[in-house]
Amino acid sequence: MHLRTVRTVAALRAAVSAARRAGRSIALVPTMGSLHEGHLSLVRAARAESGFVVVSIFVNPTQFGPGEDFERYPRDERRDAALAAAAGADLLFAPAVAEVFPPGFATSVEVAGLTDVLCGAPDRRGREHFTGVATVVAKLLNMCAPDVALFGQKDYQQSLVIRRLVRDLDLPVRIEVLPTVREPDGLALSSRNEYLDAGERERAAALNRALDAAEQALRDGAGREEVREAATGVLSAAGIDPEYAELLRADTLGAPRWEPGERLVLAIAAPVGRARLIDNKLMEVPATSGRGTGRAALVGG
Ligand code: PAJ
Repeated sequence: MHLRTVRTVAALRAAVSAARRAGRSIALVPTMGSLHEGHLSLVRAARAESGFVVVSIFVNPTQFGPGEDFERYPRDERRDAALAAAAGADLLFAPAVAEVFPPGFATSVEVAGLTDVLCGAPDRRGREHFTGVATVVAKLLNMCAPDVALFGQKDYQQSLVIRRLVRDLDLPVRIEVLPTVREPDGLALSSRNEYLDAGERERAAALNRALDAAEQALRDGAGREEVREAATGVLSAAGIDPEYAELLRADTLGAPRWEPGERLVLAIAAPVGRARLIDNKLMEVPATSGRGTGRAALVGG
């Protein structure tokens, strides 16, 4: 199947304007390529609700840290174009780095607060990673001017950063965040799973099992530290030493207040072989829970 590909902002805008004149609404699915079923679920959802679906493929250098995998990040545009077309995309936007960041480029979008924790913590990827993401996403939204842009829950912190930047900068676009697509054994699909050998691939399924174990512990009345330990126990049994496994408020990524019904996210980042994997799960403080002190609070309360 042939998919039209444009590489300049001018050509993208011309194609989007033509679609608008034809009365079609516009959806954008931003990606870094190496498309898999996670990306394609976003394209299919976009197809179901919009008249004209743009998929962008841009391996954004500004969100990779020094020593990260920018150079070896998997790239295969022909394969991506075929997959995107089959999933219902109308246009591929695949700009060169110089089209997005021409010489003299000097502006950045920094979302404070949300980016200081988890992957953004100073001893981890750092806030600069999310500044790179926020800046390129703001640019992609302005280049394409879609009615809706779709993202995956797989990158939960990223989805919060994007929602916040859209709100704070009054960007006229609706943001949709869709569920994580997984392999049969629970491993979240990721372009970086290609870095895993067979043994690592098997061990990597422990991330999702850790999330499930943590949620079960929370349901059973465990407190914050016990929930965390339920997750890290599963990880260490698989020989995985996580960069972090944290239980935070789902809306602000701040410390949970442990109120009944409060929405939490358990977020994990862990090196497995050459890959750095992330995953997360949304969960709720049970109605009957104590104040984060665990089962003792239930018994005593
Ligand atoms: P990338 O990692 O290519 O992911 C593109 C989109 O696909 C993101 O919204 C991501 O959350 C989503 N996605 C990835 N794996 C998924 C899975 N298993 N299930 C559902 N959705 C999944 O995220 C980026 O690119 C970049 O940071 C980007 C937003 C394009 C900015 O450069």
